[in-house]
Amino acid sequence: MQNTKIYNISNLINSSEFFNEIKGLSTNIIIFCDANINKIYGKKFLESFLNYQFKVQLIVFNPGEENKTREVKQALEDELLKRKIKKDHLLIALGGGVTTDLIGFIAATYLRGIKAIYVPTTLLAMVDAAIGAKVGVNTSYGKNLIGAFYCPDKVFIDQTFLKTLPSDELINGYVEMLKHGLINSNKHFQSVCLSYMQKKIPSIELILDSIQIKQKIIVLDALDQNIRKTLNFGHTFGHAIEVLSNFQIKHGYAVAIGIFMESYLSMKMQFLSSDDFHKIKTIFQMFTIKKKYTFIEWKNALKYDKKNSDNSIEYIALKAIGKVKVNLKNITHSLPDTLLLDVINWIQQADI
Ligand SMILES: NC(=O)c1ccc[n+]([C@@H]2O[C@H](COP(=O)([O-])OP(=O)(O)OC[C@H]3O[C@@H](n4cnc5c(N)ncnc54)[C@H](O)[C@@H]3O)[C@@H](O)[C@H]2O)c1
Repeated sequence: MQNTKIYNISNLINSSEFFNEIKGLSTNIIIFCDANINKIYGKKFLESFLNYQFKVQLIVFNPGEENKTREVKQALEDELLKRKIKKDHLLIALGGGVTTDLIGFIAATYLRGIKAIYVPTTLLAMVDAAIGAKVGVNTSYGKNLIGAFYCPDKVFIDQTFLKTLPSDELINGYVEMLKHGLINSNKHFQSVCLSYMQKKIPSIELILDSIQIKQKIIVLDALDQNIRKTLNFGHTFGHAIEVLSNFQIKHGYAVAIGIFMESYLSMKMQFLSSDDFHKIKTIFQMFTIKKKYTFIEWKNALKYDKKNSDNSIEYIALKAIGKVKVNLKNITHSLPDTLLLDVINWIQQADI
């Protein structure tokens, strides 16, 4: 991520700064976006790029997590090959985290690497997916199991995209911001809670603060070998819930349930005070699981998590709001079956 510069440009489609920054990389542009983004922004982007004298092409794919696959990656790569796209072209990933993960992965491998920039349009992609150089696709075995580390040349944050974002997608992004507060800054957690409870689009300052927390952690451990794993707080169970629900539960919602469960485990292990747990509960108790899954189903869904070692399931624990509990040797904690059963029973109760 050290090579990627992050820009904050409001209403970038009408900003000469945006187009000048891109001109420095290439005047041959391929914009990738999903069909929803195409409907709202596709024509505007094409027209603006043409006005600024770029050669521009648009490639549209079907929206949704179910399209973040090897098959869709291959189809899009074939489209690039068919159009004879060379290394002097620049790819633009315009969209949410599905788009930045998928197009970033294509950029990492197409012709052994091609330049790309990200224009994240969801809150989740702004504060999380577009930051930190992880790209990849899902498989039927689990989330993000095939991927790479790839740094886009630039990431452009434009908060005005959030005006068209559906409110459930805004909540999705808020969850990752709350997570950044929970693992790193009580002050950020409090500020995000306030904005979230007012159901507002977060201020650009709050968005940039959240990005900074993620960057601060990544600088210490770009390759995910120790401290970066703390960003996976809530994701051990979050990813399992996505798999259990066959990706019908959105990433942010699944992570929110995961955060609630991993906070419960932190309290049960007596790392986290019940006072802090109750503060977390106030925000996260709206995220519940409607369907019950068996212990075996949970175990199967949990077993492909990338943090696991041998047969043990690993999770991140908190010792306070803003602080992660780490072991002497490990960032993660292993989860015995008894505790797994406890947390599953607890989250599956109708009334927590
Ligand atoms: N690489 C990473 O470090 C990282 C981190 C977190 C999440 N992710 C990945 O991000 C993905 C989830 O991202 P997401 O929640 O952004 O999903 P998404 O890309 O599917 O976007 C959500 C929906 O919102 C629509 N949309 C996007 N921007 C819009 C806008 N401005 N106005 C109206 N509609 C808009 C999209 O078309 C889509 O239907 C998951 O695959 C997750 O694994 C990656």
